[in-house]
Amino acid sequence: MKNPILVIHGPNLNLLGLREPGVYGTSSFDQINQEIRDYSEKLGLRCEIFQSNSEGALIDKIHEAYDTFCGIILNAGAYTHYSYAIRDAIAAIRLPCIEVHLSNVHAREEFRHKSVIAPVCVGTIAGFGKQSYLLAIQAMSTLI
Ligand code: DQA
Repeated sequence: MKNPILVIHGPNLNLLGLREPGVYGTSSFDQINQEIRDYSEKLGLRCEIFQSNSEGALIDKIHEAYDTFCGIILNAGAYTHYSYAIRDAIAAIRLPCIEVHLSNVHAREEFRHKSVIAPVCVGTIAGFGKQSYLLAIQAMSTLI
């Protein structure tokens, strides 16, 4: 059987539902994760979900992924905009990675327009709220 896919949430995403609901929606972190699990199952994919607020823990998880997962869906939160270390970790493991954002980062503050992670990802899905994760799962199902 195929390895599972790994969904990674970066900093502050554990506060979804509570955090700026006008930007990120009112669904809680747990509700969104349940929808991710249900949708993956519907597509016949196994998935594991990981969240950390710490850059090092995110990098360690990406390293671990290289022989146990078949692809990564990553919302790196604010690290998206400046973490060369996360970018290098993705480049190192050579698994397909899809970058995800709930909000349309391009319609927001200028510092969110730049992603240092995008060049090492297959593609980016942003602006569809929690649906962005489900679209990424659908896209991943065609890649793996
Ligand atoms: C985010 C966008 C980032 O700019 C922000 O720092 C986040 C969430 C999103 O999902 O829209 O934490 O990645």
